[in-house]
Amino acid sequence: MNYQIKDIKLAKKGLLRIEWAKKNMPVLVYIMKYFKKEKPLKNLKIACCLHVTTETAVLTETLLCGGAQVYLCASNPLSTQDDVAAALVKYFGISVYAQKGEDTKRYYEHIKAVLSIKPDITMDDGADLVSSIHNLPFDKHKNIIGGTEETTTGVIRLKALAAANKLRYPIIAVNEAKTKHFFDNRYGTGQSTIDGIIRATNKLIAGTNFVVCGYGWCGRGVAMRAKGFGANVIIVEVDPLKALEACMDGYKVLNMKEASKIGDIFVTVTGNTKVIRKEHFKNMKDGAIVANAGHFNVEIDIQGLQSLSKQKKIIRDFVEEYTLYNGRKIYLLAEGRLVNLASAEGHPAEVMDLSFANQALSVEYLKNNYQKLKKQVYLVPHDIDNTIAILKLKTIGIKLENLTVEQKKYLSSWQLGT
Ligand code: ADE
Repeated sequence: MNYQIKDIKLAKKGLLRIEWAKKNMPVLVYIMKYFKKEKPLKNLKIACCLHVTTETAVLTETLLCGGAQVYLCASNPLSTQDDVAAALVKYFGISVYAQKGEDTKRYYEHIKAVLSIKPDITMDDGADLVSSIHNLPFDKHKNIIGGTEETTTGVIRLKALAAANKLRYPIIAVNEAKTKHFFDNRYGTGQSTIDGIIRATNKLIAGTNFVVCGYGWCGRGVAMRAKGFGANVIIVEVDPLKALEACMDGYKVLNMKEASKIGDIFVTVTGNTKVIRKEHFKNMKDGAIVANAGHFNVEIDIQGLQSLSKQKKIIRDFVEEYTLYNGRKIYLLAEGRLVNLASAEGHPAEVMDLSFANQALSVEYLKNNYQKLKKQVYLVPHDIDNTIAILKLKTIGIKLENLTVEQKKYLSSWQLGT
């Protein structure tokens, strides 16, 4: 078995942490039991490009239980948990190519290693795996029957590929499932981003001017949690509806120019590029903290920050101090990469349970339906989404109210009014 990880001796620690996550992933454990019995993924080779975390480990175990062969590389150079990578190799026999802090060259070598197994299915988080495939000659991967995509940024890239008529196989956009983005993007990103900022800086959030750039599902989550910590939350948004929503949710809404003058902590969660630029850094207060929780490290113009700085030094793990020519200091967290996965551990298992249940059942769906699917980006079937919600409620012990016969009739009639 081939692999490239930091240190196999970390495996025991990784295994214990995987077991801890698994206790909080009851839906996936339920699917695992069903997969063990039915083996719906028998003989499938699955190439996964995911954040290598304890939660991902539980997903890969589920896929193994379904009968698949699983190969894993990282979907971000800074998000790998090295002990988990070691445990997956040692205890689960998975070929893992991932090491926290790997450079871009090594990152793509790892993607190449995973693709060399000629997968039947791809499972991506950010679409680097799929875009790498699309840069290769078609005949290299003509056996791929389908893929899944975990995140908003990846779905945007894949839709662009499909719109250009270049997508080579069907993809299920796991991110678009309600049981994914309502929970993972909002409560997961919300908690883990604040967690990442606190672990990196140990700063008090209360009383700070906390600027959230982007009010999508992730931005809403970050804003909600920052408010809960006692921050004065400011939203920067380009979309009029989202800006209005942020305003009526009780936040101050400013443009980047105004926000840059008063913010103490800045978090980008837009999915777009160069959201915080030179002109904004110049306005920032001495001591401002800048972090990103969007998928790629493009939201903060780090080159621009560098060009304004006379000195740069690492002062804590995941905290770089930039001293500007104007004498002020700006602190960049986690090199502008996903702060929640770089300096914390990503979303908690309870929400990844939902996201990864969607992944596991979407792979089964692809296996059973790929012949009917076109080279398009598909939603997760409603039945899968709904089943996951029902299962999750069951595991939490929440009972639903049932409609009475009279209520059902009322809801399906047009005659009954005043
Ligand atoms: N994305 C965000 N949090 C994650 C986690 N804990 N595991 C895998 N992918 C993630």
